[in-house]
Amino acid sequence: MKEKIESYKKELSDLKADTLDALETFRIKFLGSKGIVKELYADLKSVANEEKREFGQLINEFRNLAEEKYNEVKEALSSTDSGSESGEDLTRPGTPFELGARHPISLVRKEIIEIFSRIGFTVSEGPEVEDDWHNFSALNFPPEHPARDMQDTFFVEKGENEMALRTHTSSVQVRVMENSKPPIRTISPGRVFRNEAISARAHCIFHQVEGLYIDENVSFADLKQTLLYFAKEMFGDQTEIRLRPSYFPFTEPSAEVDVSCNICAGKGCNVCKYTGFLEILGCGMVDPNVLEAAGIDSKKYSGFAFGMGIERIAMLKYQVKDLRLFFENDARFLKQFKSAY
Ligand code: PHE
Repeated sequence: MKEKIESYKKELSDLKADTLDALETFRIKFLGSKGIVKELYADLKSVANEEKREFGQLINEFRNLAEEKYNEVKEALSSTDSGSESGEDLTRPGTPFELGARHPISLVRKEIIEIFSRIGFTVSEGPEVEDDWHNFSALNFPPEHPARDMQDTFFVEKGENEMALRTHTSSVQVRVMENSKPPIRTISPGRVFRNEAISARAHCIFHQVEGLYIDENVSFADLKQTLLYFAKEMFGDQTEIRLRPSYFPFTEPSAEVDVSCNICAGKGCNVCKYTGFLEILGCGMVDPNVLEAAGIDSKKYSGFAFGMGIERIAMLKYQVKDLRLFFENDARFLKQFKSAY
């Protein structure tokens, strides 16, 4: 038995395991449940009683030796292993990841807010699910009045407690008028909803920024000058505006505003359909009924309001021909709007 142990010891010291697989084979052979160490302990049973102690010690020593060897090789392999076992080179540089870009609607929204904040407008927000009062009645839409059909509405709840997805952010301005005293100078950016067929020029969800200015002696000239300032800041200093009479229940008089085409500089091209102008927003002097409904004295105060679609401004600014692109989130489209902020 002594010789047997000696020869195993020699085998142990000659052993070279240079891969994890070879090491595992070694472990099974020497230390496994049917391995050499187990076998030696089994042999011990047939050894004469007076020799048991001596052989027992020899086997213990051998087992320790085998375990030491195993741990030593394992240690060495794991510290030099650079992943070659799994076929990976861990010294390669990592894969760089691409930074995302701001959505063009967010960029334009931010720019509009900045332009108006420079002349003292604050930002106000309100709920997307609105009651009839704030979306319609307080804005001088009488019940059953056909003007309500100008903005096809998604109703959430019909009947007495009628609730709907807001069709414009004018609803937010009603809330501001109800909750604060003039002078009021605020813009309300936000998502709005209309039951419209989706096309290159319309969507059932889009974004607006509406503005409201109420004080003593606010005139139509103030409105015009404010919008001219906005158009020049947004589309460039050479931009001109044009006002066309229009109708909104909550403003009187009302107008639609065009800016000179920034592609052909007003000369006429296919984007402006050879008119030299592009429509960007609706506006007007706040109807006295609207002021009174919100508890503001219409004899003392007057004001103007305006509202624009952010998608529309973004289409003109970036010359995007199809509004649906803003909602598809195709990374190849969005990537083109990288910006510093
Ligand atoms: N609320 C109108 C719309 O959504 C826009 C508008 C706002 C027009 C304020 C005039 C004054 O179409």
